[in-house]
Amino acid sequence: MTTFALQQPLLLGMMRLLECAELATPQALLGFIERCIERGLNGFDHADIYGLGECEARFGAALRLRPQLRAHLQLIGKADIVPAAQDVSRWRVKHYDSSARYLTRAVEASLQRLGVEQLHGFLLHRPDPLLQVEEVARALQALVEAGKVGWIGLSNAEPLHWQVLGRELPLRCNQIELSLAAQQAVWDGRLQALQADGLQVLAWSPLAGGRFAPALQQELEEVAAALQATPMQVALAWLRRLPGRPLPILGSLRESRIEEALAGAELQLDAPTWFYLAEAARSMRAP
Ligand SMILES: NC(=O)c1ccc[n+]([C@@H]2O[C@H](COP(=O)([O-])OP(=O)(O)OC[C@H]3O[C@@H](n4cnc5c(N)ncnc54)[C@H](OP(=O)(O)O)[C@@H]3O)[C@@H](O)[C@H]2O)c1
Repeated sequence: MTTFALQQPLLLGMMRLLECAELATPQALLGFIERCIERGLNGFDHADIYGLGECEARFGAALRLRPQLRAHLQLIGKADIVPAAQDVSRWRVKHYDSSARYLTRAVEASLQRLGVEQLHGFLLHRPDPLLQVEEVARALQALVEAGKVGWIGLSNAEPLHWQVLGRELPLRCNQIELSLAAQQAVWDGRLQALQADGLQVLAWSPLAGGRFAPALQQELEEVAAALQATPMQVALAWLRRLPGRPLPILGSLRESRIEEALAGAELQLDAPTWFYLAEAARSMRAP
């Protein structure tokens, strides 16, 4: 069984970096990254498609102001999605590309934009129906051997995806949508299967992108008041109660929200509270 290298209460997601006007300059972003490190948060979740590469480029511009900071960071990258805007075919269609050539180039392009020599972790962003297992395994292994990638993981993978690829190369994690509003993996055995196969779960959109249904938000407020916590802290504690203690990838880059999430990192939910919220979110009683 592999042990995941990121031992911290949260990862920080970079998908919304361009929405954050306060972090638009390299200096401001550098200050943000430094303060995250001071808080003990050094894991940043990137993907080549975030801002069509611009999120990685901005992050890299900030790091270039203080290159020694790179040694303190754990950067995760992802690739295999080709957005319609980057498709050079006549069809201009969003598609996946997991060919060795594409993945190798994608990793090299991410390294260049970020201005680093290695992605600590690299994930296949979405399962590609045309994926050729041996080709992908060889390409990813070569990236690890070249030192361009530290470890490999998957994202949005189903059990057969990780089991088939896992036979060819060691996999560290599966990054999946997981929150009170996205509970499928909670009930279909996937979390137990991931735990049994030694893959850490990284939970994307842990706060449902800030769009919990009003009724659920009300229940979260009720529980939060009872536990002297905040709704966001309760929603994250709900995730951490799950098998394998999924690691939330927080999407907000507001420092007040990051502080709030960190302040609740030790909050524990008992089973009745967990079910009360799970059922409220599913609008049904557990069988
Ligand atoms: N692997 C994949 O396929 C995949 C897919 C999607 C995302 N991801 C990763 O997961 C990360 C997190 O995703 P996410 O951004 O959707 O996560 P999230 O943490 O669920 O949502 C963040 C959004 O929620 C808002 N928000 C947070 N607390 C709020 C509150 N109390 N009231 C109102 N709005 C609130 C934030 O607004 P403010 O910014 O205003 O605080 C932000 O827009 C991404 O950055 C990316 O790294 C991966």
